[in-house]
Amino acid sequence: MNLHVPVRVGSYTTRGNLFLAPVAGYSDAAFRSICADAGCDLAFTEMVSSEALTRGHLKTEVLLAREDNEPDYAVQLFGSRPETMAAAAVIVAERWRPALIDVNCGCPVPKIVKTGAGSALMRDPERIRAIVAAMTGAVRTPVTVKIRLGWDDSSVNYLEAAAAAVEGGASAVTLHARTRERGYAGTADRRAFFALADALPVPVFASGDLFSAKAAVDILSGGRVAGVMFARGAMGDPFIFSRARAALEGLPEPAETAAERMSVARRHLGLSLRHYGERTACVEFRKQACAYLKGVPGGAELRRLAVGCSTLADYDGFFDAWAAEAARRA
Ligand SMILES: Cc1cc2nc3c(=O)[nH]c(=O)nc-3n(C[C@H](O)[C@H](O)[C@H](O)COP(=O)(O)O)c2cc1C
Repeated sequence: MNLHVPVRVGSYTTRGNLFLAPVAGYSDAAFRSICADAGCDLAFTEMVSSEALTRGHLKTEVLLAREDNEPDYAVQLFGSRPETMAAAAVIVAERWRPALIDVNCGCPVPKIVKTGAGSALMRDPERIRAIVAAMTGAVRTPVTVKIRLGWDDSSVNYLEAAAAAVEGGASAVTLHARTRERGYAGTADRRAFFALADALPVPVFASGDLFSAKAAVDILSGGRVAGVMFARGAMGDPFIFSRARAALEGLPEPAETAAERMSVARRHLGLSLRHYGERTACVEFRKQACAYLKGVPGGAELRRLAVGCSTLADYDGFFDAWAAEAARRA
């Protein structure tokens, strides 16, 4: 049975059900482009401040940049004021024309929570409803919501929060199946994905502990959960999309070669340069380079080289060392 199927999200239909999660510092145009090539069906930008957007802060715009090979993307906004979120949605819809606009109700970072945004919204489902209602009243782009299980173990309320989002007009809900208190630690509660999918009249997407193609198959089997999002599992491993896609289609999972991994990392760096310029791109790419080295034989020494790279010439040296190491071990 082919489990790789499109999902209808309001007026928009995705190409398939494998998504790149919104990940601050990672899911930018360069990485989304790499993931699109690997088979990602729709990628989410990192969270973008509705306050910054409506005040015209130009630095925010780089987060919304899009690559040529991305036919569609989803933009995630954060904020706590319905009118500001609606105004930001209008700006995004008119200027960047995303397929979906997503509302962040999961960010655990104190700086965000303190403003009433991110996971603070899990404590105020009525505000989630008001935010989504204001946004759906202002734009035709389908609005989706990404929530957590709840604030902490004593206040698990994802069913209530998701119902509030749907009442406000949300076209899909993503559940990161951890509480705010858990951050990113511990295992995600998979049963909650199924409970939410059974409870909602709109598609439910699963996030949390998506680290293998098998995890995607396990969650999508049975057809209750509509889609899965890869987050940390895709960092340095965009090939997870091609493996997951093959697994969902009942085909053998492809295994990338060392040369392919190096060439994708190099292309990723090249795309980053276009958006950030040499210095910023090179410094920012250190963490990506380390991620690409996950599980690579001789990775520890190569990581030491990567964290010292500040220029393109430094990366030429790094990639030469990686190629030499791969050749030595071949
Ligand atoms: C570094 C980092 C940044 C993240 N940034 C965002 C974000 O901007 N918006 C969001 O909704 N979730 C964000 N997340 C959460 C992920 O989208 C995802 O829900 C979470 O990592 C669970 O999936 P995983 O266990 O498969 O990594 C972030 C996670 C990490 C690790």
